Amino acid sequence: MSDQVLITGASRGIGRAAAERFRKEGWRVINVSRGPCPVPDVVNVRVDLAEPGWEPAVEAALRDGASQGPGRLCVVHNAALYEHDDALSMDADHLRRVLEVNVVAPLVLNRLARPLLTDGSSLLYVSSTLGEKAVKGVASYVTTKHALIGMMRATCQDLAGTQVHTACVCPGFTDTEMLREHLGADPAVRASVAGMTTFGRLITPEEIAGVLYTCATTPVLNGAVIHANLGQIER
Ligand SMILES: NC(=O)c1ccc[n+]([C@@H]2O[C@H](COP(=O)([O-])OP(=O)(O)OC[C@H]3O[C@@H](n4cnc5c(N)ncnc54)[C@H](OP(=O)(O)O)[C@@H]3O)[C@@H](O)[C@H]2O)c1
Repeated sequence: MSDQVLITGASRGIGRAAAERFRKEGWRVINVSRGPCPVPDVVNVRVDLAEPGWEPAVEAALRDGASQGPGRLCVVHNAALYEHDDALSMDADHLRRVLEVNVVAPLVLNRLARPLLTDGSSLLYVSSTLGEKAVKGVASYVTTKHALIGMMRATCQDLAGTQVHTACVCPGFTDTEMLREHLGADPAVRASVAGMTTFGRLITPEEIAGVLYTCATTPVLNGAVIHANLGQIER
């Protein structure tokens, strides 16, 4: 068997941890992001998903992997932009850029992956707790994360009759660059966010990577929205 996974945004954070986990389990790993994935033996396709023209390079890497023998293909739609903006004053071009990375790229990748989706393959989405609720000041993120849950549900229906499954993982506060950039440098803010889980700590990227690996290898999780947030305390 020559299983392969394509992960968008594996240069750091949750995507990097997922690349490490799948490699450990013996999968061929393709990273799609602007920077390289630091995990050894990962195939890097260095493209900007916000700019047109990235499809041929990604398609070539997928086909190269498939030519190495039969196996499953998993696609993890993980890369995302997380911008400060609001629903009443957002510039349309700004929203278009966020949509391009967070929603359009997964759609295009599904189409590229489709001919290679053998039995047991999967299309996995990474949404957020903000895929089913909103907070102030991150409207494009909230909008696109809701959209991913809808796209996953549509994917499930459109895959009917195949042996391919799909799921959407919704992480809570995970200790990555994205969260650190968003929270800023103040340790008190970080501690207060950690206190918003019932366990009183941030989630590690490796924990979310484990959930993604479970989804990839567990077809009964088809059409599932999986909240992985250590029990978020609602305020
Ligand atoms: N961290 C959290 O608390 C949290 C919570 C809920 C959901 N999530 C979700 O989990 C996923 C991963 O988040 P993370 O925290 O690991 O984020 P991160 O550390 O900021 O990593 C984001 C990844 O996306 C890639 N990316 C961003 N813009 C890109 C572009 N234009 N083209 C190609 N790749 C691009 C980045 O790669 P390059 O910069 O190298 O291109 C990077 O590898 C996201 O979907 C996020 O919404 C995270």
